[in-house]
Amino acid sequence: MIIGIIGAMREEITPLLDIFKQYTTHQISNNIFYEITYKNSKIFIAYSKIGKVHSSITATTMILHFGCQKILFSGVAGGLNQNLKVGDLMLATKLCQHDVDITAFGHPLGFIPESSVYIHTDERLNTIAREVAKDQNIILKEGIIASGDQFIHNQDKKQWLIENFQADAVEMEGASVGMACHLFNIPFCIFRSISDSADGNADISFDEFLEKSAKTSANFVKHMVDAIL
Ligand code: ADE
Repeated sequence: MIIGIIGAMREEITPLLDIFKQYTTHQISNNIFYEITYKNSKIFIAYSKIGKVHSSITATTMILHFGCQKILFSGVAGGLNQNLKVGDLMLATKLCQHDVDITAFGHPLGFIPESSVYIHTDERLNTIAREVAKDQNIILKEGIIASGDQFIHNQDKKQWLIENFQADAVEMEGASVGMACHLFNIPFCIFRSISDSADGNADISFDEFLEKSAKTSANFVKHMVDAIL
């Protein structure tokens, strides 16, 4: 089995590298991929840099160059749903790109012709995630994630994301990783721990909780790897 684990920022993968400790590195397209041998399997870990373009390139590289057969995403998100508080861990059921807008041509927000508004995460991986959460006594919330190339930090935009996409959390990479995986037929799942509430204090909250929330997500992803292998 070859598993790919992607984070957006260095802080999101550092806890995983600290857990696995031994790795070799590969440099491709100005990005570092960490290769780990674990339980007779291979794990590739990388942070993509922020945003949908970077993360889709990293996912594609994981799949086409390193032969990853499953992709797990670990990182942080802004909470939109009041039930998602800073520090909570969530599993994405489906994701959309909130900054796609060709409504001028009569299409729904987030829709791209020959594609769809939402990309669904893999139900088998999600089932494993629910079992891991139960075994580890971890509360794993679930919801819809809206991804876009914007850091959301205002109440009006927050409401807009909830109203238009029924989104529970917002981040900047999940839907694009999902799209790459979907197009190459690779099962994927997305874990995010909440770092902020995407409101007027989001920037301060993000800086304060990035490391802690990234660790929460990464620890869970390590349990996922153990459950998969
Ligand atoms: N990632 C974490 N918090 C976020 C926010 N408020 N907007 C976009 N991406 C995020």
